[in-house]
Amino acid sequence: MTTPVQAKPATVVILDFGSQVSQLIARRAREANVYSELLPFDASWDEIAKREPSAIVLSGGPESTFGDDALECDPRVYESGLPLLGICYGMQLLVKRFGGELARMAHSEFGPAQLVVDRADSPLFLGVPAESRVWMSHGDSVKSVPRGFTPLAHTASSEIAAMSDDARKLYAVLFHPEVVHTEAGTAILENFLHTIAGIAPTWRMDSWVDDAIEKVRAQVGDANVLCALSGGVDSAVAATLVARAIGKQLTCIYVDTGLMRKNESAGVVAAFRDVLHLNVIHIDAERRFLERLAGIGDPEEKRIRIGHEFIAIFEEEAKKIPGVRFLVQGTLYPDVIESKTPGSKAGHKIKSHHNVGGLPERMALGLVEPLRALFKDEVREAGRVLGLPNAIVERQPFPGPGLAVRIIGDITRERLEVVREADWIVTSEIDAAIAQGRLSPRPWQYFAVLTPVKSVGVMGDGRTYGNLVGVRAITSEDGMTADWARLPHDLLERISARIVNEISGVNRVAYDITSKPPATVEWE
Ligand code: XMP
Repeated sequence: MTTPVQAKPATVVILDFGSQVSQLIARRAREANVYSELLPFDASWDEIAKREPSAIVLSGGPESTFGDDALECDPRVYESGLPLLGICYGMQLLVKRFGGELARMAHSEFGPAQLVVDRADSPLFLGVPAESRVWMSHGDSVKSVPRGFTPLAHTASSEIAAMSDDARKLYAVLFHPEVVHTEAGTAILENFLHTIAGIAPTWRMDSWVDDAIEKVRAQVGDANVLCALSGGVDSAVAATLVARAIGKQLTCIYVDTGLMRKNESAGVVAAFRDVLHLNVIHIDAERRFLERLAGIGDPEEKRIRIGHEFIAIFEEEAKKIPGVRFLVQGTLYPDVIESKTPGSKAGHKIKSHHNVGGLPERMALGLVEPLRALFKDEVREAGRVLGLPNAIVERQPFPGPGLAVRIIGDITRERLEVVREADWIVTSEIDAAIAQGRLSPRPWQYFAVLTPVKSVGVMGDGRTYGNLVGVRAITSEDGMTADWARLPHDLLERISARIVNEISGVNRVAYDITSKPPATVEWE
């Protein structure tokens, strides 16, 4: 099969000065069918030029340009002659750089404001209403624009909320066009990308997938490659893409920890073997995991033991396959950029997430990370382009340590069976309600938790002393923050009644109504 040669898509580079919403600029650009990359604010010009950008965006950031150590980008960005868009802090940088005047505000302006467009003829404001709501977050204001620039818009507390120098294609806005609260935000960004920078909206997932397949072929050559399948969407899409590139040179290993949901392992292996025709080795390791977990109640200890055991098994299997030089990982774009963004200190470790970390170095394997450039929803789209079944593409997230972190206290085969059945009831009832179009917004994740709490109940004429099962359903965009889902009462009633009636030893059900933060999604 020959893959048509793709022209390199025009790219917009976004320099990240640390705003919480910088990632959104990259997403909005891609939604406008323009390929975008977010780079740290201090990326060298050589790094930036490698991307052959057609335009550059300077993001917002929490700092002030007044500080001695104010964040700056490589000065060649300003001299590049490329169309530039400064957003918030980015606007202040342009003002400072080109000789305008900034002032500290007595009170930071944070939240919604009404934008009044003073120059409706500006290409930046094509199709933007004369007045619209924007979202502000800044502590410095612009007193006067640099020479050659024209003020374009104002708000009640910012005399100059946008400016441009059309001849040099320099544009800036003090508000955040990338957030949904800015009504005309998409129009403004699209005006910059398409009309001002002249980037045609040609970036498409199918051409990205073709290109990614070519890149994997070029990277891997005739070496053999391994992939740890978890059943999750990231590893599934990564494995399928790599298989399209190199076929039988890829071996997938599915380590069945025995901590999976009902029917899950059989379903995952069947989907990959029979539907996607991947080369899959299925390792039944339930006994080994249960032995390693016997008597362990501490959540972090559970996670660590599961991670170690997983790596040990994977390594044993990997050694049996000759000529392996690479390991596929489903690393996503947010993982890549989080570690580089200014101000994003490593933070406190809340939970040890498990993956095959450390393995590539020990086994001297190179990494194939075909999804490094994609956001989660783009991974799902790539999965659809690759023809993955909906059941995989739409799958809700499931933690690597599996049901072990949904059993509070000791893990035994019997307790696993209880949580597995409860989980089955929760998921099938919520899935049915989703299929009937009853749940909006659709919950992002939902499951059951087995607690060691025992309480008194009555069944028939007799007293019971049974376990409490927790039910959790959340809405979220990315699992970083979450809210509890407002499920209809009749649905909660059905879930509760079925759990208590169908699972022996459980006599009480509680619904978790905590958001994240302060709680986390999983209980352990
Ligand atoms: P927490 O509990 O940290 O969960 O609020 C956030 C999201 O991450 C999932 N999760 C994990 N995913 N390995 C994973 O791949 C893990 O060890 C792990 N622990 C939690 C969790 O299900 C939720 O979607």
